[in-house]
Amino acid sequence: MIVNTELDQKGNLFPSKIIAFKKDVDTLYFTTQNDVVLQITVFRDSVLRFRYTTTGTFGKDFSYAITKYASKGYNHLQIEEEKHYYKIITSKLICHIAKEDLKVSIFDAIDNTLISQDELGFHWEESYEFGGNIVKMSKISQDGESYYGLGDKPEHLNLKGKRFENWVTDSYAYGKKTDPLYKTIPFYTGLHHTKSYGIFFDNTFRSFFDFTHERRNVTSFWAQGGEMNYYFIYGPKMEDVVTNYTDLTGKPHQLPPLWALGFHQCKWSYYPESKVKEVAQKFRDLKIPCDAIYLDIDYMEGFRCFTWNKEYFPDPKRMVKELLDDGFKTVAIIDPGIKVDKEYSIFQEGLKKDYFCKRADGAYMKGKVWPGECYFPDFTKPEVREWWSGLFQELIEDIGIKGVWNDMNEPAVMEVPNKTFPSDVRHDYDGNPCSHRKAHNIYGMQMARATYQGLKKFAYPKRPFVITRAAYSGTQRYSSTWTGDNVATWEHLWIANVQAQRMAMSGFSYAGSDIGGFAEQPQGELFTRWIQLGVFHPFSRIHSSGDHGDQEPWAFDEDVTDIVRKFIELRYQLLPYLYTTFWNYVDQGTPILKSLVLYDQDDVHTHYRTDEFVFGDKILVCPILEPNAKGRRMYIPRGNWYNYWTSKIIKGGKEMWIDADIDSMPIFIKEGAIIPKYPIQQYVGEKTIDKVILGVYFKKGKESSVLFDDAHDGYDYIKGRYSLRTFKLTGKTNQLIIQQHKEGKYITNYEVFKLKFYGLPFKIKTIQLDNVDIPLSEVKLNGENTMVINKNFTQLHIIGE
Ligand code: GLC
Repeated sequence: MIVNTELDQKGNLFPSKIIAFKKDVDTLYFTTQNDVVLQITVFRDSVLRFRYTTTGTFGKDFSYAITKYASKGYNHLQIEEEKHYYKIITSKLICHIAKEDLKVSIFDAIDNTLISQDELGFHWEESYEFGGNIVKMSKISQDGESYYGLGDKPEHLNLKGKRFENWVTDSYAYGKKTDPLYKTIPFYTGLHHTKSYGIFFDNTFRSFFDFTHERRNVTSFWAQGGEMNYYFIYGPKMEDVVTNYTDLTGKPHQLPPLWALGFHQCKWSYYPESKVKEVAQKFRDLKIPCDAIYLDIDYMEGFRCFTWNKEYFPDPKRMVKELLDDGFKTVAIIDPGIKVDKEYSIFQEGLKKDYFCKRADGAYMKGKVWPGECYFPDFTKPEVREWWSGLFQELIEDIGIKGVWNDMNEPAVMEVPNKTFPSDVRHDYDGNPCSHRKAHNIYGMQMARATYQGLKKFAYPKRPFVITRAAYSGTQRYSSTWTGDNVATWEHLWIANVQAQRMAMSGFSYAGSDIGGFAEQPQGELFTRWIQLGVFHPFSRIHSSGDHGDQEPWAFDEDVTDIVRKFIELRYQLLPYLYTTFWNYVDQGTPILKSLVLYDQDDVHTHYRTDEFVFGDKILVCPILEPNAKGRRMYIPRGNWYNYWTSKIIKGGKEMWIDADIDSMPIFIKEGAIIPKYPIQQYVGEKTIDKVILGVYFKKGKESSVLFDDAHDGYDYIKGRYSLRTFKLTGKTNQLIIQQHKEGKYITNYEVFKLKFYGLPFKIKTIQLDNVDIPLSEVKLNGENTMVINKNFTQLHIIGE
């Protein structure tokens, strides 16, 4: 492993033999002769935490990533002492700790498969320059092992053979090999012999992961300071690994308001007011659905946060209200840098209250960002976060801004070589004072957290909406995110696809890219293909730097506008499906996008796929990533799938050519699925939904589907005011049965479902609704293949001839 110190006097140091063992309820301590202590905490039967010290004692235990709501508790814990090792047994795992050298091996408790095995295991190097250690871990890479995760890395989904760095970085116009980017999510999933596990290295210092890059059979990770502190999360299903990681670092604290899952339009910048209005109006005139419009930095007075440029926006409250009357929610940007300006009240207050970050010797941390020279709040101090959250009162409560966009929070600093704070800057770190070396990776997260707290307070009783560029593990609790300053190229369309999938498998599903590309300008064809992908991303927003021309749906030719409209309409139709999927994420931690490997890890063909993914758990999507394409080859996962456009059913488990001219893209529905749809609306809430369309895709066999609904905003759903419907479909040669199970106290506006059947293999003879025959004349079965029934049915039974 690469050594980071120049003063390599001692080289690697290793634990010696175990001389003491202690158990304290769920925590075990193994002490070696040379004062290394390994502390293992059993979080759950499948989640173990490993923490090492080299000095005999541990420092204060504190993490920004781990949520206090994480599930804890196990069914079984047994410790046995063997001749050469200690053995920790839970109902899911068996873990061996070697007496000789503290090395760890972990096995599946059911069938004893070796899952993870230390190579050198824990070792370290003393850091002469900063004190403490460079902490290191290496593990043997098992036969055929693949690796996934790590947040926003713009690389092949399978990370095998590569090395990565985690250091939150402003990376304007990054490329396929650029590393690191804006986020630090030090969590990866390993997969071998059909079994999957995860490792979350909860260390905020600059860290590195090496997946068999340096040495063929070794995977390693290390950090430039702090503790060797990682969580081992066992599946064996990859989805369970991701779900458990998300549980540990936190699911979003609440559902987003439904409008935030609609379509968003952004540009750097729309101003003055007349321009904002013109863009909004054009969406309505052209009947392209849209829910949110963004104000980038030019709405402010000289880029001072929490101010307005009154020349461009003389009466923001009126404008925001008028936009809202037309269904547009306004989202405003807020950056961390506070302009050094003695006349500026926020600067004065921050100074007076001593809220700005300082250098080690006491000077302020001064850096250039958009407003010129700035000071930066220390968001790692609770009092500062409280102050910051209070600053949103006017924007949210009074002016009516519905969402806040946090940018430049890596923190980005201009005109300096390292693009950020120097490492000596001091931070409170919630009462654990430290340097920027430790706080850098969580700075943006804590800013987003403070912003979130402000929105939560002032938007109440509505839900907050926050979007952040920088993030560390756990940021998904507070905010959505986008992938930063990408470029309008085909390669970036590939990157956007990979990043959104990777974020989802890293616990952070609410993510999307700048559709069309931020830097440079796309051709109409690239823009169209990007929209097609973007409507299947949990966060869906067009954004561009504005330097290279317009990037609204009508900025290209009319054909483009029509195709863009068609796909944004599709997103609006699928809103109940997306909302249900999101609810699953908030409730269970289930990733919203499933890369094929996550969807079907037992099929080795999925291990190196990057392009195809499953949106929710029933819709297979594959973007077209090349110009002039009339279709593409793609891998269809195992099972039978209906082509969304032709309703033709195909059998998966193979690669196939799929037609998809510019007005189309490959979309498939899993057989047996029941897909809910809303009518097309120009914005969420435009129409009262009086019926939900259920697409019923026949399957011989069983499949269950879910529909979640509630008031689309507010917190009543937490008190049980939601409606959760589970549909169990059973198909037989000449029968189709749909059973509905209902939960929750919310009464939906709609009274009926309009069922539309696909692939019924028989001609209908009789239909029974809750055991009563209904005359075929009442249903429009022939022709349209639809029928309308009361939403509260328990069983629908269709019998064929
Ligand atoms: C950064 C952001 C971009 C924004 C710009 C101006 O480059 O990533 O989205 O438009 O700053 O605020």
